[in-house]
Amino acid sequence: MKTSVNVCGIEFKNPLIAASGTFGFGREYQDFYDVNIWGGFCTKGLTYEKRLGNPTPRIAETPMGSLNSVGLQNPGFEDFVKYELPYLKTLDTVVIVNIAGNMVEDYCRLAEAVSDCDIDMVELNISCPNVKEGGMAFGTRPESIKNVVGSVRKYCKKPLIVKLSPNVEDITQNAKAAEDYGADAISLINTVSGMAVDIYTRQPILANTIGGLSGPAIKPIALKMVWQVYNTVKIPIIGMGGISSAQDILEFMLCGARAVQVGTYNFMDPYAPVTLLDGLTKLMADCKIQDVNTIVGDLKAR
Ligand SMILES: Cc1cc2nc3c(=O)[nH]c(=O)nc-3n(C[C@H](O)[C@H](O)[C@H](O)COP(=O)(O)O)c2cc1C
Repeated sequence: MKTSVNVCGIEFKNPLIAASGTFGFGREYQDFYDVNIWGGFCTKGLTYEKRLGNPTPRIAETPMGSLNSVGLQNPGFEDFVKYELPYLKTLDTVVIVNIAGNMVEDYCRLAEAVSDCDIDMVELNISCPNVKEGGMAFGTRPESIKNVVGSVRKYCKKPLIVKLSPNVEDITQNAKAAEDYGADAISLINTVSGMAVDIYTRQPILANTIGGLSGPAIKPIALKMVWQVYNTVKIPIIGMGGISSAQDILEFMLCGARAVQVGTYNFMDPYAPVTLLDGLTKLMADCKIQDVNTIVGDLKAR
């Protein structure tokens, strides 16, 4: 049975990738299992300068998911190189560094610096505020996507994955803009904008008021968007949003994902990849799937 997949010429031993922001820089889970079980892992969003993130509370549980407004807390590039990279280099799994910034210049500087590190791929999180455009996120309009992806492309020497936000008018236009301006792959979806309320304090639960919803609650939205983007672009797609079972993995792959990321489920089951991979091989046997690649995009029309 074949579970290995290839994205942008990079071989993943299986289609499971730990999603950015839910797996730190890899160390946190090593007491539970050998983290090399993952096909790949994506770091917490890295910015050039270190960030302390938003005030707390910044996580709220919701039915079938969670709401977060962590605000990109991360050690910054220098400490990443000093303290995290040496550990990442010991891993026998595909290492993807997720990068973020406030302005296009920040992204370019970091993309260039990260490209010179011994890592495999770069994932561009463009759902961040663009300070120069008055705080509007880069990832919401095709014009700003063209600008940031086209600029970063010139500096990024590794395969470039562009991660799309679902909080947009038309995901297909954004995916096409990313492809046209140099993305090697697209990953989607980031969290869905949301809010939680405490009736006793009569306040929003999150200190930041608004946060991003993740987990099983967003899976139908993610499936739809992966399928729409699959029918729009030619570059590979990495799907995510609420994956918590082997069946979910196959659903995303049928909609066109060549690999998948698993985020919030890591908080629900600390052995997430162990459980999911065991389930995947069993389900592939049940469904008589010899090679997981054969189902990518094989969703039949109704
Ligand atoms: C606590 C938390 C932190 C996150 N941090 C990041 C981040 O730094 N960069 C990023 O691109 N996505 C971040 N995400 C989004 C996830 O990578 C993923 O796109 C989203 O949660 C949907 O997948 P899921 O439903 O499997 O969690 C974060 C998600 C959570 C729950």
